[in-house]
Amino acid sequence: MAKVITTTSAETETFACAYAKTLRPGDVVLLDGEMGAGKTVFSKGVAKGLGIQEEVTSPTYAYMNDYDGRLFHYDCYRIESVEQAEQLGLADYFDMGGICLIEWSQNIAPLLPTDCKRVRIRKISETEREIEY
Ligand SMILES: Nc1ncnc2c1ncn2[C@@H]1O[C@H](COP(=O)(O)OP(=O)(O)OP(=O)(O)O)[C@@H](O)[C@H]1O
Ligand SMILES: [Mg+2]
Repeated sequence: MAKVITTTSAETETFACAYAKTLRPGDVVLLDGEMGAGKTVFSKGVAKGLGIQEEVTSPTYAYMNDYDGRLFHYDCYRIESVEQAEQLGLADYFDMGGICLIEWSQNIAPLLPTDCKRVRIRKISETEREIEY
């Protein structure tokens, strides 16, 4: 895996914007990292890179936000069981041709496709982040 270090959220967004160009329709990307690491900031950058105009906001309460069928942005932090995730139909979007970005994917691990990409964001300090991709 390659690594980059960013020192501002704007830099993380810019990096994610470039990273988005390496993605293909249907890619499922697991965004790992502790709370406040920058997973949602990264997602905003990916959306920009995909040319999505709509502002990306944290889908904590909705579990998944659909941006034109081109980007599905998940936040599974509050998912309580795999059964709940199944009932919500969260797995239905994995093969619809859009790019899936998934925060807290460990909560839906049994539902994930086998060939996911992974991005890990690690907090080094208040403003520094190490991004492995
Ligand atoms: N280099 C950096 N890259 C990204 N975010 C940074 C950086 N430096 C500081 N931040 C701040 O860290 C926070 C990251 O918040 P963000 O909502 O993206 O985290 P998250 O990983 O999605 O957390 P959660 O698991 O709660 O959803 C923001 O307040 C952002 O401004
Ligand atoms: Mg988030």
